Amino acid sequence: MPTAILSALAEEQAGLIERLHDPVCHRHAGREFWCGQLHGQSVVLALSRVGKVAAATTATALIERFAVRRIVFTGVAGGLGQGVQVGDIVVASSFVQHDMDASPLFKRYEVPLYGKSHFGADVLLSQALLAAARQVVAEPRFVHGVPMLRSLGVHAPQVHSGLVISGDRFVATSEESRALRERLPDALAVEMEGAAVAQVCHDFAVPFAAVRTISDRADDSAHVDFGAFVKEVASAYSRDIIEGYLSQPRL
Ligand code: ADE
Repeated sequence: MPTAILSALAEEQAGLIERLHDPVCHRHAGREFWCGQLHGQSVVLALSRVGKVAAATTATALIERFAVRRIVFTGVAGGLGQGVQVGDIVVASSFVQHDMDASPLFKRYEVPLYGKSHFGADVLLSQALLAAARQVVAEPRFVHGVPMLRSLGVHAPQVHSGLVISGDRFVATSEESRALRERLPDALAVEMEGAAVAQVCHDFAVPFAAVRTISDRADDSAHVDFGAFVKEVASAYSRDIIEGYLSQPRL
Protein backbone atom coordinates (compact mmCIF):
# COMPACT_ATOMS: atom_id res chain seq x y z
CA MET A 1 0.00 0.00 0.00
CA PRO A 2 1.53 3.31 -1.08
CA THR A 3 2.14 6.53 0.82
CA ALA A 4 0.34 9.54 -0.64
CA ILE A 5 2.29 12.78 -0.89
CA LEU A 6 -0.18 15.60 -1.32
CA SER A 7 0.62 19.22 -2.21
CA ALA A 8 -1.67 22.09 -3.10
CA LEU A 9 0.26 23.54 -6.03
CA ALA A 10 2.33 22.12 -8.88
CA GLU A 11 5.32 24.25 -7.76
CA GLU A 12 5.32 22.48 -4.38
CA GLN A 13 5.25 19.07 -6.08
CA ALA A 14 7.71 19.70 -8.94
CA GLY A 15 10.90 18.60 -7.16
CA LEU A 16 9.32 15.28 -6.16
CA ILE A 17 7.93 14.46 -9.61
CA GLU A 18 11.43 14.94 -11.06
CA ARG A 19 12.80 12.25 -8.73
CA LEU A 20 9.96 9.72 -9.19
CA HIS A 21 11.07 6.30 -10.49
CA ASP A 22 8.84 4.26 -12.84
CA PRO A 23 6.27 7.05 -13.00
CA VAL A 24 2.77 6.19 -14.20
CA CYS A 25 0.13 8.91 -14.41
CA HIS A 26 -3.51 8.03 -13.74
CA ARG A 27 -6.27 10.55 -14.44
CA HIS A 28 -9.26 10.51 -12.13
CA ALA A 29 -11.76 13.13 -10.89
CA GLY A 30 -10.14 15.73 -13.15
CA ARG A 31 -6.80 15.22 -11.40
CA GLU A 32 -3.47 13.55 -12.11
CA PHE A 33 -2.21 10.90 -9.71
CA TRP A 34 1.48 10.02 -10.19
CA CYS A 35 2.28 6.52 -8.98
CA GLY A 36 5.91 5.36 -8.69
CA GLN A 37 8.81 4.83 -6.33
CA LEU A 38 10.74 7.32 -4.21
CA HIS A 39 13.61 6.00 -2.08
CA GLY A 40 12.40 2.47 -2.84
CA GLN A 41 8.93 3.17 -1.44
CA SER A 42 5.64 3.12 -3.33
CA VAL A 43 4.15 6.58 -3.47
CA VAL A 44 1.28 8.41 -5.11
CA LEU A 45 1.93 12.11 -5.74
CA ALA A 46 -1.19 14.22 -6.09
CA LEU A 47 -2.33 17.83 -6.02
CA SER A 48 -5.05 18.76 -3.60
CA ARG A 49 -5.57 22.02 -5.49
CA VAL A 50 -6.55 24.98 -3.33
CA GLY A 51 -9.26 25.08 -0.68
CA LYS A 52 -11.00 22.63 1.59
CA VAL A 53 -13.45 21.01 -0.83
CA ALA A 54 -10.82 20.40 -3.53
CA ALA A 55 -8.47 18.94 -0.91
CA ALA A 56 -11.20 16.67 0.48
CA THR A 57 -11.95 15.37 -3.03
CA THR A 58 -8.28 14.50 -3.66
CA ALA A 59 -7.88 12.89 -0.23
CA THR A 60 -10.99 10.77 -0.74
CA ALA A 61 -9.78 9.63 -4.17
CA LEU A 62 -6.36 8.72 -2.74
CA ILE A 63 -7.99 6.55 -0.09
CA GLU A 64 -10.85 5.00 -2.08
CA ARG A 65 -9.22 4.62 -5.50
CA PHE A 66 -5.50 4.31 -4.74
CA ALA A 67 -5.79 2.54 -1.37
CA VAL A 68 -3.05 4.66 0.19
CA ARG A 69 -1.83 3.60 3.62
CA ARG A 70 -1.11 7.14 4.88
CA ILE A 71 -1.26 10.71 3.60
CA VAL A 72 1.49 13.29 4.05
CA PHE A 73 0.81 16.89 3.06
CA THR A 74 3.69 19.12 2.04
CA GLY A 75 3.35 22.76 1.07
CA VAL A 76 3.46 26.35 2.25
CA ALA A 77 1.51 28.31 4.87
CA GLY A 78 1.24 31.77 6.31
CA GLY A 79 2.98 32.24 9.68
CA LEU A 80 0.72 33.34 12.56
CA GLY A 81 2.49 32.34 15.77
CA GLN A 82 5.03 34.63 17.38
CA GLY A 83 8.46 33.69 16.10
CA VAL A 84 7.12 31.71 13.13
CA GLN A 85 9.04 33.40 10.33
CA VAL A 86 9.32 33.10 6.55
CA GLY A 87 11.53 30.08 5.82
CA ASP A 88 10.60 28.27 9.05
CA ILE A 89 8.88 24.88 8.99
CA VAL A 90 5.71 23.94 10.87
CA VAL A 91 4.75 20.30 11.43
CA ALA A 92 1.07 20.19 12.39
CA SER A 93 0.08 18.50 15.64
CA SER A 94 -3.62 19.28 15.06
CA PHE A 95 -5.93 21.16 12.70
CA VAL A 96 -8.93 23.49 13.04
CA GLN A 97 -11.18 24.93 10.32
CA HIS A 98 -11.01 28.60 11.22
CA ASP A 99 -14.01 29.45 9.02
CA MET A 100 -16.30 26.80 10.54
CA ASP A 101 -19.06 28.50 12.52
CA ALA A 102 -22.43 26.80 13.02
CA SER A 103 -23.15 28.81 16.18
CA PRO A 104 -25.47 29.02 18.00
CA LEU A 105 -26.30 25.42 17.07
CA PHE A 106 -22.73 24.28 17.79
CA LYS A 107 -19.74 25.94 19.40
CA ARG A 108 -17.66 28.09 17.09
CA TYR A 109 -15.11 25.95 15.16
CA GLU A 110 -16.82 22.68 16.16
CA VAL A 111 -17.45 20.50 13.10
CA PRO A 112 -21.15 19.65 13.43
CA LEU A 113 -21.87 16.05 14.44
CA TYR A 114 -18.21 15.25 15.10
CA GLY A 115 -18.33 16.77 18.61
CA LYS A 116 -14.96 18.44 18.20
CA SER A 117 -13.12 21.29 16.53
CA HIS A 118 -9.56 19.87 16.59
CA PHE A 119 -8.50 16.95 14.41
CA GLY A 120 -5.16 15.48 15.51
CA ALA A 121 -2.30 14.59 13.19
CA ASP A 122 -0.92 11.06 13.40
CA VAL A 123 1.71 11.13 16.15
CA LEU A 124 4.29 8.73 14.67
CA LEU A 125 4.02 10.19 11.19
CA SER A 126 4.42 13.71 12.59
CA GLN A 127 7.48 12.66 14.60
CA ALA A 128 9.03 11.26 11.43
CA LEU A 129 8.31 14.53 9.56
CA LEU A 130 9.75 16.58 12.44
CA ALA A 131 12.95 14.53 12.33
CA ALA A 132 13.21 14.98 8.56
CA ALA A 133 12.54 18.73 8.79
CA ARG A 134 15.16 19.20 11.53
CA GLN A 135 17.69 17.34 9.45
CA VAL A 136 17.02 19.52 6.39
CA VAL A 137 17.40 22.85 8.21
CA ALA A 138 20.54 21.66 10.00
CA GLU A 139 22.19 21.03 6.63
CA PRO A 140 24.19 24.20 5.75
CA ARG A 141 24.04 23.09 2.11
CA PHE A 142 20.31 23.73 2.18
CA VAL A 143 20.29 27.46 2.98
CA HIS A 144 23.35 28.03 0.76
CA GLY A 145 21.88 25.96 -2.08
CA VAL A 146 18.71 28.07 -2.30
CA PRO A 147 19.96 31.64 -2.97
CA MET A 148 16.58 33.22 -2.40
CA LEU A 149 16.57 32.08 1.23
CA ARG A 150 19.53 34.33 1.93
CA SER A 151 17.98 37.25 0.09
CA LEU A 152 14.88 36.75 2.27
CA GLY A 153 17.14 37.04 5.31
CA VAL A 154 16.66 33.36 6.19
CA HIS A 155 19.88 32.10 7.79
CA ALA A 156 18.78 29.61 10.40
CA PRO A 157 15.26 28.32 9.75
CA GLN A 158 13.42 27.02 12.83
CA VAL A 159 11.19 23.95 13.03
CA HIS A 160 7.94 24.26 15.02
CA SER A 161 5.19 21.83 15.94
CA GLY A 162 1.63 22.85 16.82
CA LEU A 163 -1.81 23.90 15.66
CA VAL A 164 -2.37 24.64 11.97
CA ILE A 165 -5.62 26.31 10.94
CA SER A 166 -7.32 26.06 7.55
CA GLY A 167 -10.02 28.00 5.78
CA ASP A 168 -11.20 29.02 2.34
CA ARG A 169 -9.41 32.36 2.50
CA PHE A 170 -5.93 33.49 1.57
CA VAL A 171 -5.13 35.60 4.63
CA ALA A 172 -3.46 38.70 3.28
CA THR A 173 -4.12 41.55 5.71
CA SER A 174 -2.54 42.31 9.06
CA GLU A 175 -6.03 42.96 10.42
CA GLU A 176 -7.26 39.49 9.54
CA SER A 177 -4.19 37.70 10.84
CA ARG A 178 -4.46 39.69 14.11
CA ALA A 179 -8.10 38.63 14.45
CA LEU A 180 -7.15 34.97 13.87
CA ARG A 181 -4.37 35.23 16.48
CA GLU A 182 -6.81 36.69 18.98
CA ARG A 183 -9.45 34.01 18.43
CA LEU A 184 -7.06 31.05 18.05
CA PRO A 185 -3.97 32.06 20.03
CA ASP A 186 -2.30 28.65 19.73
CA ALA A 187 -2.31 28.68 15.91
CA LEU A 188 1.18 28.63 14.41
CA ALA A 189 0.22 28.78 10.74
CA VAL A 190 -2.72 29.26 8.39
CA GLU A 191 -3.38 27.51 5.09
CA MET A 192 -6.36 26.33 3.04
CA GLU A 193 -6.44 22.52 3.01
CA GLY A 194 -4.99 20.67 6.03
CA ALA A 195 -8.04 20.57 8.30
CA ALA A 196 -10.20 19.25 5.46
CA VAL A 197 -7.78 16.41 4.70
CA ALA A 198 -7.55 15.69 8.44
CA GLN A 199 -11.35 15.31 8.60
CA VAL A 200 -11.42 12.93 5.61
CA CYS A 201 -8.56 10.88 7.09
CA HIS A 202 -10.39 10.76 10.43
CA ASP A 203 -13.49 9.40 8.64
CA PHE A 204 -11.48 6.63 6.93
CA ALA A 205 -9.06 6.01 9.86
CA VAL A 206 -6.06 6.76 7.62
CA PRO A 207 -2.96 8.29 9.30
CA PHE A 208 -2.34 11.87 8.23
CA ALA A 209 0.42 14.40 8.89
CA ALA A 210 1.42 17.70 7.34
CA VAL A 211 4.57 19.76 7.00
CA ARG A 212 4.32 23.38 5.89
CA THR A 213 7.06 25.85 5.04
CA ILE A 214 6.25 29.44 5.97
CA SER A 215 6.04 31.50 2.78
CA ASP A 216 4.61 34.72 4.27
CA ARG A 217 3.32 36.22 7.51
CA ALA A 218 -0.35 36.32 6.41
CA ASP A 219 -0.12 40.13 6.50
CA ASP A 220 -0.40 43.01 4.04
CA SER A 221 2.59 41.80 1.98
CA ALA A 222 1.54 38.13 2.07
CA HIS A 223 0.62 37.95 -1.62
CA VAL A 224 4.05 39.24 -2.75
CA ASP A 225 6.04 37.01 -0.37
CA PHE A 226 3.87 34.00 -1.18
CA GLY A 227 4.33 34.30 -4.95
CA ALA A 228 8.10 34.62 -4.81
CA PHE A 229 8.53 31.89 -2.22
CA VAL A 230 6.36 29.36 -4.06
CA LYS A 231 8.24 30.02 -7.29
CA GLU A 232 11.77 29.96 -5.91
CA VAL A 233 11.90 27.95 -2.71
CA ALA A 234 8.88 25.77 -1.90
CA SER A 235 9.82 22.94 -4.24
CA ALA A 236 13.29 22.48 -2.70
CA TYR A 237 11.87 22.37 0.83
CA SER A 238 9.17 19.83 -0.04
CA ARG A 239 11.59 17.63 -1.97
CA ASP A 240 14.25 17.55 0.74
CA ILE A 241 11.87 17.05 3.67
CA ILE A 242 9.89 14.29 1.93
CA GLU A 243 13.05 12.54 0.75
CA GLY A 244 14.40 12.72 4.30
CA TYR A 245 11.15 11.29 5.60
CA LEU A 246 11.03 8.46 3.05
CA SER A 247 14.64 7.49 3.67
CA GLN A 248 13.87 6.76 7.35
CA PRO A 249 13.14 3.09 8.12
CA ARG A 250 9.37 2.46 8.18
CA LEU A 251 7.75 0.84 11.18
N1 ADE B 1 -0.78 29.60 2.29
C1 ADE B 1 0.38 30.30 2.29
N2 ADE B 1 0.19 31.52 2.80
C2 ADE B 1 -1.11 31.60 3.12
C3 ADE B 1 -1.92 32.63 3.67
N3 ADE B 1 -1.41 33.83 3.96
N4 ADE B 1 -3.25 32.38 3.86
C4 ADE B 1 -3.76 31.17 3.55
N5 ADE B 1 -3.05 30.18 3.01
C5 ADE B 1 -1.73 30.38 2.81
